[in-house]
Amino acid sequence: MPRLSYQHVFEPATAPSAPALLLLHGTGGNEHDLLRLGRAVSPGSALLSPRGDVVEGQGVLRFFARLAEGVFDPAEITRRTHALADFVAAASAHYGLTPAKLHAVGFSNGANIAATLLLLRPEVLGGAVLLRSMVVLNQPAKPASLAGRRVLLLNGSTDPIVDPADAPRLAALLRAGGAEVKTETIPASHQLTPQDVAAAQRFLRP
Ligand code: MLT
Repeated sequence: MPRLSYQHVFEPATAPSAPALLLLHGTGGNEHDLLRLGRAVSPGSALLSPRGDVVEGQGVLRFFARLAEGVFDPAEITRRTHALADFVAAASAHYGLTPAKLHAVGFSNGANIAATLLLLRPEVLGGAVLLRSMVVLNQPAKPASLAGRRVLLLNGSTDPIVDPADAPRLAALLRAGGAEVKTETIPASHQLTPQDVAAAQRFLRP
């Protein structure tokens, strides 16, 4: 087995037509956090769930550093995005996942790195569900780089962390690459609700 750079959990598919999911947890989570969500939004999907390798404070795990709430270093985000993309490519080859069918399901910090994966390394993903994402890298996707990819943005109407202007801004950055982007506002705060699960289910249904 090749060395896969991120600690992770892999659950093989039990329903071959269900899209494989790349699960990306939020700040303070780990590789086990979103397994239940993954099984709920797409029953029978293969699940690949890495653990964020950036440690903030007392063992709080993330996928890239944060200088303050909502303040980031674009060079560091770019470096971390490429590192995660290299892992996703190697793990997809190792576990026999087809990149064009692999959908990221990311929450908060995990949604933010899923978005930068789409912007910087579109070849590793076939689409994404971004739960409570924001713009952390103000860089449009290269023209045609996201052609054929579907992305669902689910934001909360009373989210104190994500600016309401971020969903349309992120949608525009992704559409610049040709992605088909759907945005939905859920009557919720930063935490996920059953409506998020239902919307993601509808979107991921094969
Ligand atoms: C981030 O740091 O990626 C966002 O602020 C979301 C979060 O709190 O993790």
